[in-house]
Amino acid sequence: MSDEKNRKETTTRDSLAERRGVETHVYQPAEDSGLLAKAAVEHAHGRTLEVGTGSGWVAAKVAAETDADVVASDLNPHACEQAKARADELQAERKDGFDVVRADLFSPFVDGAFDTVLFNPPYLPTDPDNEWSDWMEVALSGGESGRELIDPFVDDVGRVLADGGQALLLVSSLSGYDEVVERAEDQGFDVDVVAEESYPFETLSILRLRL
Ligand SMILES: C[S@@+](CC[C@H](N)C(=O)[O-])C[C@H]1O[C@@H](n2cnc3c(N)ncnc32)[C@H](O)[C@@H]1O
Repeated sequence: MSDEKNRKETTTRDSLAERRGVETHVYQPAEDSGLLAKAAVEHAHGRTLEVGTGSGWVAAKVAAETDADVVASDLNPHACEQAKARADELQAERKDGFDVVRADLFSPFVDGAFDTVLFNPPYLPTDPDNEWSDWMEVALSGGESGRELIDPFVDDVGRVLADGGQALLLVSSLSGYDEVVERAEDQGFDVDVVAEESYPFETLSILRLRL
């Protein structure tokens, strides 16, 4: 990799981390979380899974503002702790909490378990020589293509969706919008865009995938 490319990636990563209010272990709500929450409050229904919940902020909004029955999951145990604390707070305030499960994507969930699945994935394209090996990398880095977790999500989400189910997936222009849409269509999904926002260096879209 050239020095110039290296510099550009490091700068992009650092500025994204700064813009997103990164703290040590758990991704905190940012513009992408807000866009997913907005779309989810409008469209989520039935048994709803938020994959990669981080602080649990999106899951809490969906639990509080819709009739959906919400489960939140994350690979990061610190995220699960924060999400659980948020769920307990919501439960105490409104008797309307959500469950939290530590999981790698869909591994513990049975076929057809959910009517709605939400995901704001790690999507930042990252050079393998430039990785920073901590929980924030797990939250932000989508590997070299930016799609290292998006691809298995798109390939496997159909298994856990009930008949008539839907997935709402956040996609950034940084990680290749057309590639994600094409992969979802190859998996047999109808794809539409239910929310979109543009920022100086990326456009964020919420894709709805329906079988
Ligand atoms: C960009 S953050 C989004 C956090 C939160 N949903 C939000 O919108 O604020 C991505 C989250 O995905 C989680 N994650 C990464 N790999 C995962 C995996 N294989 N299975 C489940 N969660 C994962 C990260 O720990 C992180 O919390």
